[in-house]
Amino acid sequence: VGSEPLKVMISGAPASGKGTQCELIVQKFGLVHISTGDLLRAEVSSGTEIGNKAKEFMNAGRLVPDEIVTAMVMTRLSRQDAKEKGWLLDGYPRSFSQAQSLEELKIRPDVYIVLDVPDEILVNRCIGRRLDPVTGKIYHLKNFPPETEEIKSRLVIRRDDTEEKVKSRLEIYKKNAEAISSTYSNIVKKINGNRPKEEIFKEIESLLLQVQKDRVKMMKPG
Ligand code: AP5
Repeated sequence: VGSEPLKVMISGAPASGKGTQCELIVQKFGLVHISTGDLLRAEVSSGTEIGNKAKEFMNAGRLVPDEIVTAMVMTRLSRQDAKEKGWLLDGYPRSFSQAQSLEELKIRPDVYIVLDVPDEILVNRCIGRRLDPVTGKIYHLKNFPPETEEIKSRLVIRRDDTEEKVKSRLEIYKKNAEAISSTYSNIVKKINGNRPKEEIFKEIESLLLQVQKDRVKMMKPG
């Protein structure tokens, strides 16, 4: 069917499992994953101008200024692959003004997913999180330990994953969450993120399949 590709936004507090679910969504739906956190971390590690500007904000657990992040996202969204395969936007918009930037350009998702996880769980998830710099895979020392000793020995800790910084990131998230949700109130879908990751994914999967079906119906009336 010549249906339009899916456009999905995923949101939720720090460590609510956005990156983990995005891995699974991409495998199944082939969307282009655009994570502002990943893009910014890549800029920082290659020492670009954007990276140098973003670094201190990120390490402090604060938001990077809107103009830097917005320009980066717009560039990425306008690439051909995102138009052809559809996109999965993770970590953007993160403020009312970022949501407004998208609205002004008439860039709207089909669905706005919010992963809901209680605060006390989030801190432990951040403290146990480890990243594989080779594959980009996300692990957790207790919940999802690495498969081999070789992987284990190369895992890295994010600089913003200390207890103190997680708390500040959470505060910022909470301050902004409502204003962003209000922009997408007619397409918001809250999902309980405090369950095994496979179970969460099953719910997201059936949601996205339904959204896909509804779009085809809309395109072929009768
Ligand atoms: P970003 O990378 O987006 O960080 P975040 O929103 O804080 O989200 P996280 O990456 O911490 O968590 P996640 O939800 O992806 O969880 P994960 O799957 O890893 O942003 C980082 C920084 O960049 C920001 O602080 C800011 O400075 C800057 N930035 C980014 N976007 C910006 C923007 N738009 N504007 C301005 N600045 C911006 O899972 C977490 C852990 O839990 C892992 O260890 C995982 O294995 C485990 N886990 C996952 N799911 C489960 C489960 N179901 N059960 C048990 N454990 C689980």
